[in-house]
Amino acid sequence: MATSTVEETLKKLNKYFSEKLETYGATAQGVDYNGPDAQRLRFEVLSKIIEPSRPFTVIDYGCGYGAFFDFLTTRNWQFEYYGVDLIEKMVITARELHKDFPNAHFTTDEKELPVADYLVAGSIFNIKMECPYDEWQQMVLDTLRRMNDLCSKGFAFNMLTKYSDPERMAGRPDLFYADPLFFFDFCKRNFSRNVALLHDYGLYDFTILVRKDL
Ligand SMILES: C[S@@+](CC[C@H](N)C(=O)[O-])C[C@H]1O[C@@H](n2cnc3c(N)ncnc32)[C@H](O)[C@@H]1O
Repeated sequence: MATSTVEETLKKLNKYFSEKLETYGATAQGVDYNGPDAQRLRFEVLSKIIEPSRPFTVIDYGCGYGAFFDFLTTRNWQFEYYGVDLIEKMVITARELHKDFPNAHFTTDEKELPVADYLVAGSIFNIKMECPYDEWQQMVLDTLRRMNDLCSKGFAFNMLTKYSDPERMAGRPDLFYADPLFFFDFCKRNFSRNVALLHDYGLYDFTILVRKDL
């Protein structure tokens, strides 16, 4: 089977997600979820990293059109939000949708981000296309290190789980089914003693919370 490097894959993903956005607009399907319920449930789990009793800052890494901002807004929490995405069209759409919210900031350039209290990354590693498993996994680890450097209190991310139905996984070599125990161990050894692995919310994925401020 033909393979692609990580760089080639990220270019293909740019095209893939831009087309989704063009077809479905700023909706859950426009960022490749099955529907709004799965997106919302994932946001609920990711947001467990946040302690909202005081105003906070948060980076949404791979923000798409900024749906996590809308989720946080419905909670009536006080926060400053920084969304970053690889794809210019996503960022342009996100900016336009949130232009009336002074606490919403969007960029394609990671270097423009401040260090925030928290960082969340929702479903950004799921599609690896033809990239070899180990190379994609290495890219994920490199990205987790950068995410760790971008926040002071903690971060949360989710990925598809390798504990999915074997028949389902066999038919989707384009998806990255990660080993939750490997990533739990990596986060524990590299980032913090306080790490939670949540694998109990009924989807084919898991979430890891890395808390730095206990
Ligand atoms: C499945 S969508 C999810 C969007 C959003 N997090 C949500 O839950 O609604 C994944 C998004 O992550 C972005 N993405 C993937 N890898 C990224 C990276 N390394 N840096 C920035 N954005 C990335 C993609 O461009 C895409 O918009």
